[in-house]
Amino acid sequence: MQASGATKEKTGSEDTPLARLAALLADDMKEVNATIVARMGSEVPLIPQIARYLIAAGGKRIRPLLTLAASRLYGCGTGRPYPLATAVEFIHTATLLHDDVVDESDLRRGRDSAHKVFGNQASVLVGDFLFSRAFQLMVEDGSLDALRILSDASAVIAQGEVMQLAAARNLETNLSQYLDVVSAKTAALFAAACEIGPVMADAPAEGAAAMCEYGLNLGIAFQIADDILDYGPGSAELGKNTGDDFREGKMTAPVVLALEGADDKERAFWRRTMEEKRQEEGDFEQARALIARHGALERGRDLARGYAEKARLALAEAPDGPLRALLDELVTFTVDRAY
Ligand code: IPE
Ligand code: IPE
Ligand code: MG
Ligand code: MG
Repeated sequence: MQASGATKEKTGSEDTPLARLAALLADDMKEVNATIVARMGSEVPLIPQIARYLIAAGGKRIRPLLTLAASRLYGCGTGRPYPLATAVEFIHTATLLHDDVVDESDLRRGRDSAHKVFGNQASVLVGDFLFSRAFQLMVEDGSLDALRILSDASAVIAQGEVMQLAAARNLETNLSQYLDVVSAKTAALFAAACEIGPVMADAPAEGAAAMCEYGLNLGIAFQIADDILDYGPGSAELGKNTGDDFREGKMTAPVVLALEGADDKERAFWRRTMEEKRQEEGDFEQARALIARHGALERGRDLARGYAEKARLALAEAPDGPLRALLDELVTFTVDRAY
């Protein structure tokens, strides 16, 4: 496939901080997209077929953009970050392939999920391939620190997904347990994507620590926003179905917060639908109504804003300039985004 197939990201079309970041890093991102296309190849045709299906569908590419931005922020030259930025997107792509099987989600990036088209088995196995390819790319880069950071993140992501599975349908799940899941399944990769930037630039350890802290808090805010969007009205832009978390009984911020103030009747509703998995027509609308009654989406956004603020504070340690300003704006975008 041509490199153009991998450049159908959501980032180019509007004037958002993400679009501006993508524009600023367009030359680098073009190289990363070319590396993505080149390195998803395999002599086993089903592998590039499935990888291409998902990768060419677009996606925001926010994680490799963070790697590129963080490396440039600390003075790393062009070229060096491309294989690791590719590894970061491959880890993300692998988790999406696995996640849609686990979550039984039917829509991803505006099209049928890979498992709907190619089956669960092929999706899981190609996810494994992309994980492994990511590790090959890390070894090629040669930085043991980067390898440690990204391999630690990979293990933590898997732990997060398993933690979430164990907490599903458990109405006793509290906000702190929810945040542990979020930190692991999503924020760990954001943190790693950012942290390897200064590492590649051979910056002092404070740089890596600041970017790790920025990415971690940005990632937490990002996932809380994602969980809010799952109870939103939905949109073509979102490219995934809303209501998946409710159907799967995931204990995400909107539900955890709505449950905090729930009366007996409301608890009975959540017990039936989430715990006992007995969902009927109209239940999702009812769930949304209860969430609204407790202001749980707004409170969720406030929670996300708290992490956004922490991300911004960490970023203040990074070298000043237009790139840092954009990363600062990206924080707000992440909380308020609609896709
Ligand atoms: C989806 O991530 C998975 C989550 C962590 C919520 P993105 O929202 O970055 O997905 P793409 O890559 O843009 O499709
Ligand atoms: C995604 O979590 C986290 C990982 C892929 C590790 P979600 O399950 O909430 O993401 P979406 O909503 O399917 O994109
Ligand atoms: Mg999912
Ligand atoms: Mg989600």
